[in-house]
Amino acid sequence: MKGSGMKDSGMKSDTRILVFGATSAICHEVLKLYAAQGASFFLVARNHDKLGAVTDDLVARGARVDGSCCYDFNDWEQHEVAVRQGAQNLGAIDIAIVAHGTLPEQAQCESSSAALKACMDDNFTSAAIVAEACAQQLSRQGSGALAVVSSVAGDRGRKSNYAYGAAKAGIDTLLQGLQGRFSGSGVKIVNIKPGMIISPMTAHLKHGAIWATAADIAPDIQKAIASGRKVCYVPGYWRLIMFVIRSLPTTLLAKLPI
Ligand SMILES: NC(=O)c1ccc[n+]([C@@H]2O[C@H](COP(=O)([O-])OP(=O)(O)OC[C@H]3O[C@@H](n4cnc5c(N)ncnc54)[C@H](OP(=O)(O)O)[C@@H]3O)[C@@H](O)[C@H]2O)c1
Repeated sequence: MKGSGMKDSGMKSDTRILVFGATSAICHEVLKLYAAQGASFFLVARNHDKLGAVTDDLVARGARVDGSCCYDFNDWEQHEVAVRQGAQNLGAIDIAIVAHGTLPEQAQCESSSAALKACMDDNFTSAAIVAEACAQQLSRQGSGALAVVSSVAGDRGRKSNYAYGAAKAGIDTLLQGLQGRFSGSGVKIVNIKPGMIISPMTAHLKHGAIWATAADIAPDIQKAIASGRKVCYVPGYWRLIMFVIRSLPTTLLAKLPI
């Protein structure tokens, strides 16, 4: 890591962060925390206007933005180029964050092959290729943390959202493999598993007591990245909820409206 300035959190003030999915509400809240600590970013997202707004906000909070690029992440051949550009602009990557995703209607994925494919493309294929490209860069450096946002939905196939859940379970498995590959090295792989979070992705759903905001979970995500934690449920009570859901017999789970 370059530089030597340290903040109270123990994080270096000039941490260099490559971000895929920078316009995600959850990701933006995490980036705000790093921005306030003077981090440098290379930002990658799909929507140019939204990325401009996020960039302005992060700079106003104290960040440096050393470059950005915009494309649909299903245009997979661009990922390696974006990672190399990010590493070149930043000098090296201390943290890579992969946060994009979509939440399709399960019923639509059952009736439309195109919807099912789009779900897999947005939530598995694109994320897997980005994660591998970031991992290769961190491997070349011999250091850094890769944090990928998966979901509690990947913990158990449920009738209400198994297409999205299957894509996120694929990411879980990929990250487990990367954790094995980099075990004992300077490269840390962090699997972030949000529960039900209020964001544009879930704006159409009814929000109840177990819901949290993106701002609520951002500090825990930052701490997990700093410590190189392998799996981080956010909020933490989702670890227990998913333990119970994973333990349910299939016949009982099938009877529940979840
Ligand atoms: N909210 C939840 O309850 C929840 C729970 C578990 C996991 N997660 C995961 O958390 C992550 C962030 O979600 P969020 O809640 O912050 O939702 P969000 O605000 O809707 O963010 C989703 C982001 O993904 C981007 N994206 C989607 N498809 C893309 C594509 N093909 N190419 C490039 N970018 C694409 C969107 O870009 P645009 O701005 O261009 O649309 C947006 O920035 C996702 O991986 C999601 O699966 C969320």
